[in-house]
Formats: sequence, C-alpha cells, structure tokens
Amino acid sequence: MRVGLIGYGYWGPNLFRNFQVSPHFEVVAVAEARQARRDELRRQYPDLKLCETGEEIVAASDIDAVVIATPVATHFPLASRAMKAGKHVLVEKPMCASVAEGEELVAIAKSHKVTLMVDHTFLFTGAVSAMHKLCQSGEMGKISYYDSTRINLGLFQPDVNVMWDLAPHDFSIMDYLLGEEPVSVEASGYCHINPGLPDIAYLTMHFPSDMIAHFNLSWMSPVKMRRTAIGGSKKMLVWDDLNPEEKIKIYNSGIELRPEAQRNILIPGSRIGDVFSPRLDRREALAGVVDHFAATISGKVTPIMGGDAGLRVVRMLEMAQQSLDRNLGVAKGRSA
Ligand SMILES: NC(=O)c1ccc[n+]([C@@H]2O[C@H](COP(=O)([O-])OP(=O)(O)OC[C@H]3O[C@@H](n4cnc5c(N)ncnc54)[C@H](O)[C@@H]3O)[C@@H](O)[C@H]2O)c1
Repeated sequence: MRVGLIGYGYWGPNLFRNFQVSPHFEVVAVAEARQARRDELRRQYPDLKLCETGEEIVAASDIDAVVIATPVATHFPLASRAMKAGKHVLVEKPMCASVAEGEELVAIAKSHKVTLMVDHTFLFTGAVSAMHKLCQSGEMGKISYYDSTRINLGLFQPDVNVMWDLAPHDFSIMDYLLGEEPVSVEASGYCHINPGLPDIAYLTMHFPSDMIAHFNLSWMSPVKMRRTAIGGSKKMLVWDDLNPEEKIKIYNSGIELRPEAQRNILIPGSRIGDVFSPRLDRREALAGVVDHFAATISGKVTPIMGGDAGLRVVRMLEMAQQSLDRNLGVAKGRSA
C-alpha cells in the first residue's frame, strides 16, 4: 500500500521510519509545512515526493493510506477529507478536538468503507499487552482503582493544555485494559505559564462498577514519572514505565475480610504475598501499530485502536475539559 505522511515535526519522523521498514507499505510522499524540515528530508531521500500542505496528499490519486502527525486542530479536516477520497487513515492521538468531530469521523469511515485508526502507541508496548492479559483474564479480580502519574518538566505545547497532551495515553490504556467508560469526571487545573492552558491537572473519574481512577498530569515536575497502580480484589500491580528491568510488578496481595475473635463481625485484614515481575516484549511499539494498521485494512483483525476507541478517549477528554473549565478561576490568582 502506498502511504503519504502529513507532518514531519517531532513525532512524524518516528512514523516515517517505521512505515519505511514495513513490508506492507511504501512511503511515497511526505507533506510538511516547514521548508527546513522538507530540505532535511530531501537531502536524505532525494526521490521522495515532498509537498508543502497535507491537502496535496489527501487529494493524490496514487495514495492508498494517509498518516496524520500534525497538531490536533488539523486532524479532523485532514482525516475527513482523506477518508472521503477513499483513503485509509492512521491519525495521531488524540483523534480530534471534540466529540462532534469524532462522531463524524467514525460515520465517514463507515460510509466510505475505509479504516480509521488512532495511534494510541502505548497499546502496543509489551507492558500494556501484559497488563491487558492480566486484567481481561480475571487474574486481577474485580478492579477497584486505577491511579496514574504522568509528569515531567515541559514540553509546553502551544496549542493544547497538559491534559489534552498527556491524558490521551492514560485514557486509551485504561479503556483498553478495563473497557469501562466513566460516568463523571472532576478536574482541576492551574495555568502558571500560558494563560488559558493549564500546565498542571488533577482528574478523578467515577465508573458504574465503583471503580475510581485518578490522574496526575503535569509539565511542572522536576522529575519525569510514568507510574500507574491498578488494584484488583485478587492482585494489585504497579507499572513504572521508566524502570528498564522491572517495568511491571504484580503483587499477590489484597484485603480480605476475616472473622474477629472476640466479636461476631468481619474485619478487613491485609494479605501480603509474592511479588512477580513478568518478562515483557521489547519490540518498538510503533512497529506493532504499523502492522496492526496493515492487518486492519486487509480485514484480518478488528482494530484495538479504531475510530470507536479514539472517540471514547475524546469523550473522556471533553468530559474532563468541561469540569476543568468550571473549576478554572475558582481559586484566587488563577490566570485563566
Ligand atoms: N503517539 C505518541 O506517542 C505521540 C508522541 C508525540 C506526539 N504525538 C502526536 O503527534 C501529533 C504531532 O505532534 P508533534 O509533537 O510531532 O508536533 P510538531 O509541531 O512537532 O509537528 C507537527 C508538524 O506538522 C506540520 N504541519 C502542520 N499542519 C500541516 C499541514 N496542514 N500540512 C503539512 N504539514 C503540517 C508542522 O509544520 C510541524 O512540523 C500530535 O497530535 C501529538 O499529540 C503523539
């Protein structure tokens, strides 16, 4: 399949590299608005077709699939035009900027019988695959909490706040692992640097099953942390994505109700068992994304990160944004 990539900024080169080595695709064109980035590509790949705007790729008759790695606001116009022109689309996270746009993209993909996939890259990491098996097999038991910390210093994005930048990763992972949508979200954020764009956000989500999820998102932390804890009735786990050796630790621990000796009641007691760290697949996640895109287009698999999954993530973002908007300006001294 002949592929055109739109956007060769920070993330685009990673997609370019993985599509280039894929046996399923041939990268025939790249669109990039910045001259300096096009010049760089021209020096390395003199035969590659280079365009200034994504519209040229979307309209090209000799391209079967389009990969979109541009800022969020451009995802909807580029993806919708590409699909209406009969092209399969892999779009960067988040899929688009609103639920209304997402619903339209899903409808266009359906009516034009093309594949719409979102690059929720983490779903193809060894760690998330292992956690998916643990959660879906019932080994963890009933999940009671999901607690995530994704913090670092910068990179400040000029067009989106810290939640739209970082939370799509967490929301897509949680959605894939647990398959439950929240009924409500409380979000608070502060704008310390760019007015109107919170750089710290704390989110709490509530679910029909009584599960609770919490997300700590920040561009203001001196240290980088990528840590998720998931608590189940049978097992609990901690995923530290920055730990090269033991990314996941599974604790055979939990809380059990035991009879109290003196009285006729049950009291909660802790059960502390072994800790296990599984061996994980270390293949680059983006290579898995590219393979999955090919397999989905050829009808061999149902996508785990299709338009519906992308829309669920955008729905969570929009719900959280509404709460963030309500809470911005509540505290004295906030610059909203
Ligand atoms: N999956 C991941 O882990 C991951 C990681 C980083 C970024 N991203 C996503 O990738 C997307 C791009 O992020 P980035 O950090 O690479 O941004 P970026 O600003 O570094 O790059 C975007 C590039 O697109 C170009 N561009 C914009 N509109 C264009 C158009 N209409 N035609 C041609 N070129 C155009 C810009 O000139 C720029 O070079 C975002 O949606 C972001 O969330 C995903």
